[in-house]
Amino acid sequence: MSTTNVKPADGKLGILVVGNGAVATTFMTGVLMARKGLTKPVGSMTQYDKIRVGRGDSKKYLKYADIVPIAKLSDIVFGTWDVYPQNAYQSAIYAEVLKEKDIEPVRDELEQIKPMPAAFDKNYAKRLDGDNTKGDITRWQMVEALREDIRRFKQEKGCQRIVVLWAASTEIYVPVNKEVHYRLADLEAAMKADDREHVAPSMCYAYAALCEGAPFIMGAPNTTVDIPAIWELAEKTRMPIAGKDFKTGQTLVKSGFAPIIGTRCLGLNGWFSTNILGNRDGLVLDEPANFRTKEVSKLSTLETILKPEAQPDLYGHGNDDDTQYYHKVRINYYPPRNDNKEGWDNIDIFGWMGYPMQIKINFLCRDSILAAPLCLDLCLLSDLAARAGRYGIQRFLSFFLKSPMHDYTQGEEPVNNLYQQYTMLKNAIREMGGYEADEEID
Ligand SMILES: NC(=O)c1ccc[n+]([C@@H]2O[C@H](COP(=O)([O-])OP(=O)(O)OC[C@H]3O[C@@H](n4cnc5c(N)ncnc54)[C@H](O)[C@@H]3O)[C@@H](O)[C@H]2O)c1
Repeated sequence: MSTTNVKPADGKLGILVVGNGAVATTFMTGVLMARKGLTKPVGSMTQYDKIRVGRGDSKKYLKYADIVPIAKLSDIVFGTWDVYPQNAYQSAIYAEVLKEKDIEPVRDELEQIKPMPAAFDKNYAKRLDGDNTKGDITRWQMVEALREDIRRFKQEKGCQRIVVLWAASTEIYVPVNKEVHYRLADLEAAMKADDREHVAPSMCYAYAALCEGAPFIMGAPNTTVDIPAIWELAEKTRMPIAGKDFKTGQTLVKSGFAPIIGTRCLGLNGWFSTNILGNRDGLVLDEPANFRTKEVSKLSTLETILKPEAQPDLYGHGNDDDTQYYHKVRINYYPPRNDNKEGWDNIDIFGWMGYPMQIKINFLCRDSILAAPLCLDLCLLSDLAARAGRYGIQRFLSFFLKSPMHDYTQGEEPVNNLYQQYTMLKNAIREMGGYEADEEID
């Protein structure tokens, strides 16, 4: 028998979601329906997965909640911020992800989830024009107003703990700037000086959350918490952070499929990925500066799994200067498909004596249906990590993320291989449960 040192998950857990769009409302509706026994939380690791603990005669396969104390769905209370004033019911209907029959039974609860005014700067998402915002205030005023929102929500709803999840639109690309983003003191000075170029609104949400003792999760590819200044704040406040970008459709397939090529020592000349997508996320990503953020995130997956420098014969050819396979990712805004994204992957591989072959993958997925269980798992596991005394970047959550955070200032590499990420996840659960972490990732 093991003993866990993790604090119990007593009382209510407030989940504050930044953005009340397709992903957020699909997540909330599913949780509210599941806890009434009206649906099943399919795709959620925390609700279904069983992992081995112990060895030999004492070997057992247990659900996470039987190893570590995980908050119950019935203890979750939702809140949100959005640029648009519609409540979660109206927004879920607007998103057209779920059928009305799957929303109506929890209509009353969803109607109570009314977005607080957003900390928003139109330069960061030009295609949005809602007016439920905090107005044209400085970055530091955003931080203070958001901190106040978190405190008020926690008190009014009687929550023991809060987690803040970003499921809002992808912001324009903010390159990491050493002068502003490396030290907490510099970031704070920039916020106070209202440096709108280097301080994205999302950074204000993250800063506010951590200062209020809430873990922060970045579900979009935004730079936000992927900067040393925020790591410093996470250490100072002893709060977990995770990011970035939910690993849902095409990248999930990529990080699961690339290991087949790598493990069998097959060669790769090129991987072309394209998507059509018609929801509001697709609309925002139609703006080149916003797409750039997504592109950077999506490209990194393959490069850390199939490495040209480790296997030049297999992965060192195919691009313009013949140093690496050709890798291209495209997202095309196509309204008729709404949330039902279609992704095509064309993979040019080669085998024995260099003979070429092709693999085609056509994934007709539902974006928010894939993202919702990740939202649940990321929130529950970040709350668990906080109670376990873990803080800073939570690498064990890489499994759920397209562009997992890592300390790039120390030359650390992200782990993108889905199976290695799963090992990291299982080991962390084992460790927090007082069991031995017994699988190596090589
Ligand atoms: N669904 C997926 O498979 C998937 C995968 C990875 C990442 N994501 C990311 O998740 C995010 C949400 O996706 P979605 O489909 O729900 O988009 P959506 O457009 O339906 O919802 C996003 C909402 O965020 C709001 N918003 C924008 N800026 C805000 C701010 N500063 N404060 C508060 N609210 C703000 C918008 O008004 C909008 O209602 C996007 O960034 C998307 O890239 C989604």
